[in-house]
Amino acid sequence: MDRVRFGLIGLGNIGIHHYSYFHELEGAELTAVCDVDETKFARLDAPVAQFKDYRKMLDSGKIDAVIIGAPHVFHPEMAKAAFARGIHVILEKPVAITSREARMINAAHEGSDVVFAAMFQMRTEPVYNKIKELLKDGTLGEIRRVSWIITNWFRTQSYYDSGGWRGNWTGEGGGVLMNQCPHNLDLFQWFFGLPRQLTSLAYLGKWHDITVEDDVSVLMELANGATASFVTTTADTPGTNRLDIAAENGKLVLESGVLTFYKTAEPVQTILNTSQEGFYSENPEVIEIPVDAKPHGHRYITQNFINVILGKEELIAPGTEGLKSVQLANAMLLSGLKGRRVDLPVSEDEFDELLEELRQDERQNAPDKVFDWDAYLRGLGVVD
Ligand SMILES: NC(=O)c1ccc[n+]([C@@H]2O[C@H](COP(=O)([O-])OP(=O)(O)OC[C@H]3O[C@@H](n4cnc5c(N)ncnc54)[C@H](O)[C@@H]3O)[C@@H](O)[C@H]2O)c1
Repeated sequence: MDRVRFGLIGLGNIGIHHYSYFHELEGAELTAVCDVDETKFARLDAPVAQFKDYRKMLDSGKIDAVIIGAPHVFHPEMAKAAFARGIHVILEKPVAITSREARMINAAHEGSDVVFAAMFQMRTEPVYNKIKELLKDGTLGEIRRVSWIITNWFRTQSYYDSGGWRGNWTGEGGGVLMNQCPHNLDLFQWFFGLPRQLTSLAYLGKWHDITVEDDVSVLMELANGATASFVTTTADTPGTNRLDIAAENGKLVLESGVLTFYKTAEPVQTILNTSQEGFYSENPEVIEIPVDAKPHGHRYITQNFINVILGKEELIAPGTEGLKSVQLANAMLLSGLKGRRVDLPVSEDEFDELLEELRQDERQNAPDKVFDWDAYLRGLGVVD
């Protein structure tokens, strides 16, 4: 194969963005699109095969690969259906709502020889690449403490009031952890691995009239015993994106896109163990770390995926790794809502039970927030 024929499922916000850069890709062409809502086809400006039912597109013989940009509730069934037909997959984040579903996607992928990527485009951002490099090449040394405040996801009540499948348990299956934070949770696990345990405070509709979580603060213990905190909300403006990594050789800080390394004269534990100054005050070397202005974004994940199919590159964001950010999100919610420590990997039975309770509660106590997918698809004539 020297040219990959693509199908695109979902022509909403993200689908149209993927559509917009296809002509810039090398080694690929868009041959088919699918959306349950046929009015979305009016957004296309070039002729491609159009399908209302994604299975028909997968069976059409017109595509070798698919980008799945439908709402998350459909990700597992769509990814598994593509694998079963030998079709390569880029799956939008979050790969699934629950750890069990994400693990089942991975199980379905195992044994198939198709390429499976997740749309974690933040992995291509130069500043995050640089952090990954500094963690890997030993510049920072052993991690002692991490703190990530990621509150620049401000959303107003009108965002949630626009209705539909977002911001409720029945339609979306989560709030800030499921919709806004999957990229941050993916980067967190990419940098530091999955924590051993965590404890969180998670609030449902603390600031907005919604049923899902909009304010979460988490404390974690990493595999090496270091502690980490992660704070997020959709309710702060101006918001913050500040990542502090305190390590053996000093402290790395990312804030407002600027990366600064405060390098200690000696390893921190050596100073702590040997300095005769009881109130030692460090005057670290302050190094602003240059970050390449490399191109980045969704298009680069898609181009990388094409290059992998054509045997030219390694995957930047393997789809199977999408499980980890889902496990983190599930564990954070479970801990916050049950008010206790949660060990990872999260218990899938406990999380599934919690999600079912939240959905039942929404149906009983907040019927105006419920989004009924079956009724929606029936209305569009997609299912009987
Ligand atoms: N990687 C990113 O930066 C990024 C950004 C935005 C959204 N997303 C993800 O993309 C997905 C879609 O988000 P969005 O904001 O584009 O949503 P959206 O509601 O704007 O678009 C979803 C589209 O899918 C269509 N659709 C719904 N059910 C379908 C089905 N069963 N078969 C085919 N089409 C179906 C809808 O008609 C709609 O056109 C979500 O999972 C979201 O998390 C990722």
